[in-house]
Amino acid sequence: MQIAIDGPVAAGKGTIARLLAKKINARYVDSGAMYRAVAVLGLRKNISLENPVELLLELKKVPLRLRPARDKFSFDVYLNDENVQDNIRTSEVSRGSAVVAQYPKIRSYLVKIQKEIASKFSVVMEGRDIGTVVLSNADIKIYLIADQKTRALRRQKQLEEKGEYVSFEKVLQETIERDNRDMSRAINPLKKASDAIEFDTSNMSIEQVINELVEIIKEKKI
Ligand code: C5P
Repeated sequence: MQIAIDGPVAAGKGTIARLLAKKINARYVDSGAMYRAVAVLGLRKNISLENPVELLLELKKVPLRLRPARDKFSFDVYLNDENVQDNIRTSEVSRGSAVVAQYPKIRSYLVKIQKEIASKFSVVMEGRDIGTVVLSNADIKIYLIADQKTRALRRQKQLEEKGEYVSFEKVLQETIERDNRDMSRAINPLKKASDAIEFDTSNMSIEQVINELVEIIKEKKI
């Protein structure tokens, strides 16, 4: 079974995809974590994030891998043998991930890994191009949205939980910039797949969204 979840920054993709995967006994795949890990690699090695050739050369030396996480149903991102899961959530890395995500060769390097995982396991995979590109034949495609203010508040809270305190105005501005970049890039931009079901999560509880999704899965009899 393949379930694709896409949407802009902090629309609830991660939380919902994780809970849903657990509920239906599938694996949760966070594709954004992979773009983030490429940004971490560039930042660490002092490679410009606008230099895809150098980044790819470095990825040959330090390959990016997904390995099962402790919870057994999700994956951690590794650079070579180092688990970098705890290094990918800063604002600097968020900004950088949307920069590296513009480049076709970086995208195909990561999409190949994402497709491989989906060929081995039932997955709930979330990102920006999952329903349109990575799992274009997914059984169910979901597109999550929420209003800008709600999303920026959620994002600010996520950063705070990681010990990074950023003003609401700055988070709002960064959220807008990243969404614009993701929606306007030339290759595989964020957009709703024509056959995706849209949910506005602004005024929905997580339980409500999960319950509705479980109903949709039941109806589809996958
Ligand atoms: O989902 P998350 O916010 O962690 O993703 C970080 C960035 O990675 C996004 O802003 C986007 O630029 C990029 N991304 C992408 N395609 C995906 C997942 C993430 O371009 N499937």
